Amino acid sequence: MCYYISMKLQIDEININGEGLSHFEGKKYCTCGVLPGEIIEGTIQKETGNFAEIKLNKIIEPSLKRVEPKCKWCESCGGCDFMFVNEDCALEIKKKTIQKYFENFYSGDVVTHYSPKTTRYRNKVSFVINGKKIGLTRKKSNEIIEINDCLVAKEEIIKVFKIVKSYIVKNENSTINHLVVRVIDDKISVVLVCKNTPKNLDFLANELKKAFEEKFGLFLNFNTSSAYILSENWKYVCGQKEIISTSLGVKFFAKPHSFMQINDGVRDKIYKRVLQEIDGGIVIEGYSGAGLLSAVMAKRAKQVYAVEINKTANLDAEKLKAENNLNNLINLNGDCATILPKLVNEFLDATFVIDPPRSGIDRKIIDAILTSNVKKIIYISCNPYTLKQNIYLLKDKFSITHFEIFDIFPQTFNIESLVIMRKISNHFE
Ligand SMILES: C[S@@+](CC[C@H](N)C(=O)[O-])C[C@H]1O[C@@H](n2cnc3c(N)ncnc32)[C@H](O)[C@@H]1O
Repeated sequence: MCYYISMKLQIDEININGEGLSHFEGKKYCTCGVLPGEIIEGTIQKETGNFAEIKLNKIIEPSLKRVEPKCKWCESCGGCDFMFVNEDCALEIKKKTIQKYFENFYSGDVVTHYSPKTTRYRNKVSFVINGKKIGLTRKKSNEIIEINDCLVAKEEIIKVFKIVKSYIVKNENSTINHLVVRVIDDKISVVLVCKNTPKNLDFLANELKKAFEEKFGLFLNFNTSSAYILSENWKYVCGQKEIISTSLGVKFFAKPHSFMQINDGVRDKIYKRVLQEIDGGIVIEGYSGAGLLSAVMAKRAKQVYAVEINKTANLDAEKLKAENNLNNLINLNGDCATILPKLVNEFLDATFVIDPPRSGIDRKIIDAILTSNVKKIIYISCNPYTLKQNIYLLKDKFSITHFEIFDIFPQTFNIESLVIMRKISNHFE
């Protein structure tokens, strides 16, 4: 029985999941919440072959880079898994981890981009509600951690959180499951996700009005499923129906259902960096969401073809196009796996921009790119694991010229990558 064996280990490096790795007597040990160089004491939790998961008991020799987490719920909530490291060090560790993880595909410098804010940067947070309890959940659990603040959320989000907390405490609540708050500039959208219409909504609307005057909108989303937070079943209650703002010269509209990047400052940095790679030619964009990046690119490109599967996001993108008079932007609603292969075969020398979900891009798209005339790929990825799988399939025809990472979620180990790949020229073709 090797379970419960306590051992002393030195942390050698951080792996792509943000866990510390130790190599000892031919085995690999993996521990959460540690830094390279630290000596720790832990207990083996699970062991398979040459690999064991360690539960951290004690840090015997802490790293000098370790800092005291600023949030008192940090350990129980689990949302900010990298709050015990300062920003410079966190980004340096992310860079080294990426360099190692992609060493077979790229040996150049990995450029790092800071977040303009390391706290109060999140423009949207979903809180969990059960009766009179409201908060965030413990990592990999449904247990509610009752908080009074969340340091990564914008201040207005916390203000709404406190108003809704006092509303559910004063009113009998058996129907509300989530509160979803989004803030852009100083405008706020408040969504109560519920099974039925909650009681005394006028009271809540009045409290929100006292705090934010005309700058908020209140919505209900009816959802009985626990598989996802928001359903398609919306009811507008009062206030602003959408948030209107601008980014990089584009006027955009955020409705409560619209997908928007969580960190406005880093979103703009990523879009500006993509724009540097756009010339006056054709752009084919996959996974285009509500179309903000498409619109930014359309200001420079000759023509942008943007493909998005979600109908509502596609309608938002059409509105964005009309309001910004972008006649060179074509929004196509459908599956990238079907539409992108047709587009890449139609245009010579197109620049191909993709920002897929965590699952990465479909094999059909990769096969189409490999046989197409695409010369340059700009790949934005929120998941290094699927990014690596996709790069592996493209590596015989495309080489990486730039690898950049953006600290889109400070205080966590998440890494947003932007990779530029160019077709390897073959003189015999
Ligand atoms: C990471 S978001 C990118 C959004 C956008 N680029 C932005 O910055 O706001 C990924 C988008 O891909 C869309 N999507 C997921 N699978 C898709 C598919 N098979 N075909 C087309 N779009 C898809 C999702 O609906 C979502 O809007």
